[in-house]
Amino acid sequence: MNPFSTKTYKGPEYFIDREKETEKLLDAINSERNLTLFSHHRFGKTMLIQHVFSKLDNRKYQPIFVDLFATRNMVHFTQKLTEVLYDRKIILDNGFNKMLGSLGASMTFDPLSGNPEINFHLSNRESIIKSLPEMFKQMIKTKKAVVVAFDEFQELASYDEDITEALIRTIMQEFPQITFLFSGSRKSLMKEIFTNANRPFFQSTQMMELHEIDRDIYAREVFTMLEKNKKRFDEEVIYRILDETYCHTGFTQMMLSRIFSESEEKIDDFIYEQVWYDILEDYKAMAREQEFLLPSLQWKTLLAVAREEFVKAPQSREFSLKYNLSAPSSMARSIKALLDKGLIIECGDKGLRVYNVFIQKNLQKLYYS
Ligand SMILES: Nc1ncnc2c1ncn2[C@@H]1O[C@H](COP(=O)(O)OP(=O)(O)OP(=O)(O)O)[C@@H](O)[C@H]1O
Ligand SMILES: [Mg+2]
Repeated sequence: MNPFSTKTYKGPEYFIDREKETEKLLDAINSERNLTLFSHHRFGKTMLIQHVFSKLDNRKYQPIFVDLFATRNMVHFTQKLTEVLYDRKIILDNGFNKMLGSLGASMTFDPLSGNPEINFHLSNRESIIKSLPEMFKQMIKTKKAVVVAFDEFQELASYDEDITEALIRTIMQEFPQITFLFSGSRKSLMKEIFTNANRPFFQSTQMMELHEIDRDIYAREVFTMLEKNKKRFDEEVIYRILDETYCHTGFTQMMLSRIFSESEEKIDDFIYEQVWYDILEDYKAMAREQEFLLPSLQWKTLLAVAREEFVKAPQSREFSLKYNLSAPSSMARSIKALLDKGLIIECGDKGLRVYNVFIQKNLQKLYYS
């Protein structure tokens, strides 16, 4: 089996580092403190929550993980929550049917697969919203401490209903015995939701940002995994992978996973070059099509950021002159648009960089005119 997971959580032996972060989350849960976890995409938030949940003593805790990805309104929200409660058998049959009744929802079984489907109706929006607290009331009927993680929580900011945040915040206050974890990837948006004094969640949770895994710790754990799997390797090649992908977990793991499965005798420079070339080919079209998807200045800015690797002062005259860009005000708009689209990210003191490492390397190879 390939030890470098790229999809689901497979257990602690495949999970790299995050020891301090795991402690911090466990401590928040033990102290019944609500916490918000945020970072750019693919740094490992979802995996970290899964890891932490797997460590909880299941005689004492009832962890509930709700993925809000692609939900657009409170009806979707409630539907997702209900599905999780049903799948995990958290609310028992009687209570569950009663709850569905009060939500105006019904359950049918797919005639082919036999899988249950819970059907909600948008027209019942009002009663669904009203019944939401009842669902949480049902959840706490267990003797265990309930921990609810809402992943992709930033989706709430674009829900059809304006009252969503206030609604969830009220539930949070009504059920102090439940620990809430909120996790989300639009860093600026998550900060806005939880640190803006005019929004309901203001200062209501502990804020925790996820960063890169430390390079040396990452390398050590990769060496150990390779040794356990009896794979020979050049240490230098592993460091090269970590550096070329900036230890951005999702991209690093993808490269490690591919190189593990495609190498035979040994992981060396030769196989590195081959796998790296193949991955870049996979992203070539995606890199090029940005030219047609973006307005001209944004495309030129993206290319320039890729070329520079990291840009500290994107509105400076120097940067503009070097790449024949535009005036500071237009540059500010262009940068903001690229940040909003998630094509570039802010990396602390280092400055801005292209988010997708493989797209960045492809862009660096294109001609700049
Ligand atoms: N500590 C880790 N050890 C091993 N693999 C990891 C670790 N953290 C993350 N990964 C891998 O990196 C990838 C991205 O992780 P994950 O999906 O958890 O990131 P995320 O921050 O939730 O991303 P998004 O914001 O897109 O939801 C996954 O393929 C996952 O398997
Ligand atoms: Mg995630």
